[in-house]
Amino acid sequence: MTVLIINIKQLVQVRQNNVTVVKGKDMADLPVLENAYLMIEHDTIVEFGPMSELDEIEADEIIDAKDRIVLPTWCDSHTHVVYAGNRVGEFEDRINGLSYEEIASRGGGILNSAKLLAETSEQELYEQSIKRIHKLIRLGTGLLEIKSGYGLSLDAELKMLRVIRKIKKELPITVKATYLAAHAVPKEYKDNKSAYVDLVVNEFIPTIAKEKLADYIDVFCEKGYFDVEDTEKILKAGVDHGLVPKIHVNQFNIIGGVEAAVRHNALSVDHLELLDDNDLEHLKGSRTMPVALPGCSFFLSIPYTPARKIIDNGLPIALATDYNPGSAPSGNMNFVVSAACIKMNMTPAEAINAATINGAYALGVSNQYGSICRGKKANVMITKEIPDYRYLPYSFGEDCIDKVLVHGMIWDL
Ligand code: NIG
Ligand code: FE
Repeated sequence: MTVLIINIKQLVQVRQNNVTVVKGKDMADLPVLENAYLMIEHDTIVEFGPMSELDEIEADEIIDAKDRIVLPTWCDSHTHVVYAGNRVGEFEDRINGLSYEEIASRGGGILNSAKLLAETSEQELYEQSIKRIHKLIRLGTGLLEIKSGYGLSLDAELKMLRVIRKIKKELPITVKATYLAAHAVPKEYKDNKSAYVDLVVNEFIPTIAKEKLADYIDVFCEKGYFDVEDTEKILKAGVDHGLVPKIHVNQFNIIGGVEAAVRHNALSVDHLELLDDNDLEHLKGSRTMPVALPGCSFFLSIPYTPARKIIDNGLPIALATDYNPGSAPSGNMNFVVSAACIKMNMTPAEAINAATINGAYALGVSNQYGSICRGKKANVMITKEIPDYRYLPYSFGEDCIDKVLVHGMIWDL
């Protein structure tokens, strides 16, 4: 099966060499080819170039992209899209004056979602989740990470991870699974958090790793949740069982989690609404990708990750949605890219690099995804008629995506 896309107004994020991460000043460079074609064979990008160099227009399927932009699909490296129900009640409580932390300390928040999840069958959880993901693919997401973490017991975590495994099997997009081992302290362990951490380390992690249900290990390293000592214990156990760390850190407080994550060679540190110079120093020279989640900052009215500071220090940054029922109930990467430009002062080029190649890096697959490059997977999206790639973040809230190709196949749900 061959697909040929012709007359592309701008072919964006097009790379001659297989770049796997972009950092610092290089983030401002987003290569664009005007009036281009793109050739796909089966699931792979095989050729591209200016229309003037296309010898013959022949393929099983020809798509005319006149006045349209083509770019790699979004790589969303941080979501909690497998969840039960919603938290619209807490949304209203926050509007009426309660903070996210106050709601959590009253037994709402993550514990609320854990209760809903416990009451929901595995099949129902799958159905609710897959519906959400179908909508995301339509909006251009072609690579997706999904975390557990609303289980809090071994059985319920296994239920979540099996749902993620089923989603992996059923969907054409690549899905990575993260065992969010420590998301909140369950009620029963309120006064004995260390016993819960021991349980996670000695029982939950070995079981989940043995069943090969996760690629990554995550911890919510935050005041009132899990401190640096808990985090390190869990990351170490995860690493010992072959799980790569990707952690929630610096959302509300700086407690030393970035340094700990880097020490454990984390692939990413996510949130970073707060970030100090010590954190920056530890990130420099590490392989750890800082991941910003502007949808969460928007929804909770908390600070935005200081992207400029990160980039101006020569570091890379990735963007993800954090799609979850409590702090970011939207998985729309188009909005995330807009918010990064509007609220974090990232240029459209920087934001698109952050949402494609660097997102793929944060999932360890940027050799295969995240840019238009010969030999890479054919995950590309075609916009509606728009004047320029910068129009994507500029026209925030508008749905500019027309067609999405996943591994060379047109997504039509
Ligand atoms: O990434 N911060 C921790 N976890 C999620 C929110 C979870 C929830 O509120 O349900 C986050 O923001
Ligand atoms: Fe999260």
